[in-house]
Amino acid sequence: MRSSNLFIFVFIFAAALALVFTANANELKGKHKEAAVACADCHKTDTPDKPAPVTSCKECHGGYAEVKELTKGGEVNPHDSHLGEVDCRDCHKIHAQSQLVCASCHNFELIVP
Ligand code: HEC
Ligand code: HEC
Ligand code: HEC
Ligand code: HEC
Repeated sequence: MRSSNLFIFVFIFAAALALVFTANANELKGKHKEAAVACADCHKTDTPDKPAPVTSCKECHGGYAEVKELTKGGEVNPHDSHLGEVDCRDCHKIHAQSQLVCASCHNFELIVP
């Protein structure tokens, strides 16, 4: 492949990748990025190679006692259920579409940010 072709290929690939990432409305990294939360705030390193520990989430957002308060009053509280203290990262994905683990059994109208 000529080097100019390679350049064009790499450019298109990068553009497509950027599109895939920005098109994901529920991707949390964007919101954390807006709030100036750095990689190392979650990952405890500037060169992450594994998922951030859930303890990082709790340092900033508190534990279940706190998040339960934030989302009370609705028909169903995602932070207060018979499943107990589910790992935050099971629902709140940082680099991917978030998901509601309850949905495997229930049909709640909840959108996970
Ligand atoms: C708000 C916390 C948070 C921030 C900010 C964040 N991450 Fe993550 N990262 C996670 C979590 C949680 C996972 C686990 C997968 C997921 O939730 O998407 C993860 C997964 C990863 C993984 C994949 C590890 C694996 O083996 O699965 C890499 C690589 C990574 N992050 C790099 C980064 C980089 C680079 C930045 C900064 C640009 C960053 N992360 C910012 C929380 C965060
Ligand atoms: C360094 C502090 C910090 C860490 C660590 C952190 N967050 Fe956040 N998070 C914030 C800030 C700041 C915001 C934006 C303002 C807000 O909504 O509170 C935010 C927003 C959020 C929101 C709300 C998004 C919305 O659309 O309302 C969720 C959910 C969330 N974080 C979950 C997590 C999870 C899960 C982790 C761990 C993987 C995590 N955060 C780690 C600071 C942090
Ligand atoms: C079962 C899935 C699930 C788990 C596990 C979960 N959340 Fe959530 N979370 C949600 C949903 C759904 C919402 C949105 C609720 C709504 O819109 O009323 C939410 C909202 C939030 C918000 C935004 C609340 C607001 O109104 O400002 C924060 C912050 C948050 N979660 C943090 C956490 C943290 C920290 C943990 C772990 C300690 C956690 N969540 C565990 C499903 C989950
Ligand atoms: C493995 C399947 C399963 C999962 C996952 C699951 N549930 Fe349930 N849930 C049930 C069953 C079974 C019942 C009892 C039968 C009924 O009332 O539908 C129930 C009942 C409930 C009820 C009504 C009864 C009560 O305890 O007050 C609520 C509210 C509820 N679940 C919330 C949740 C939430 C929130 C999640 C996610 C954090 C979740 N469930 C995840 C199976 C599940």
